[in-house]
Amino acid sequence: MDQEHVIKQAHEYIEPFFEEDVTGHGVDHMKRVALWAKRLAIQEEESPFLAELAGLLHDLDDAKLSSNTQRAKADRKAKLQAWGLSKENCDRIENAIETVSFQKGRIPQTMLGKVLQDADRLDAIGAVGIARTFAFGGAKGQKIHSKDDGEKTSISHFHEKLLHIKEKMNTDTGRKEAEYRHKTIERFLVEFERETMV
Ligand code: ADP
Ligand code: NI
Repeated sequence: MDQEHVIKQAHEYIEPFFEEDVTGHGVDHMKRVALWAKRLAIQEEESPFLAELAGLLHDLDDAKLSSNTQRAKADRKAKLQAWGLSKENCDRIENAIETVSFQKGRIPQTMLGKVLQDADRLDAIGAVGIARTFAFGGAKGQKIHSKDDGEKTSISHFHEKLLHIKEKMNTDTGRKEAEYRHKTIERFLVEFERETMV
């Protein structure tokens, strides 16, 4: 099996699913998650190939994005087999994606799941995370912010979720990058506050 060719086929496969996305889950998100999953896998002596592939395919059966998650998952499995992956490697990828997609907040049991979860979380913070949060919020009809503390807004999402991500990282390299990106969102929130207090 030619790993480079499999990665190329995976890129072609995901393109139509995410090319029109305006919720922060475009092909660019899949590529960044794949890149970071690969980097972290190298650090953790996990397979960079399986990590990159899992990153590219990780959101295909996300309930936010797919109208038929069972079907999306079955189609992905069939593709992995058609591309020549062994049953064992298909299962490892599926298991890693499952722990990240369906058990958010849970710690994956495998290193492949851990690097994939770290890569996906990194993309929710830093400058890219800021952009994605407002894209997601806008697409879902959510306000940027509100004077009403109880209202869910994109700004409140930072406090509820994004500012806690750095504490939840699985790998040392992921944590280091998360700490850097955390400073970016903290700085952003300080400036936002400064410009919006009237
Ligand atoms: P993924 O779908 O990539 O696994 P998430 O579902 O956690 O990850 O979120 C995707 C992106 O959308 C992240 O950048 C996240 O911060 C953002 N997001 C999720 N829920 C909200 C929300 N209620 N308001 C604003 N942004 C959100
Ligand atoms: Ni994702």
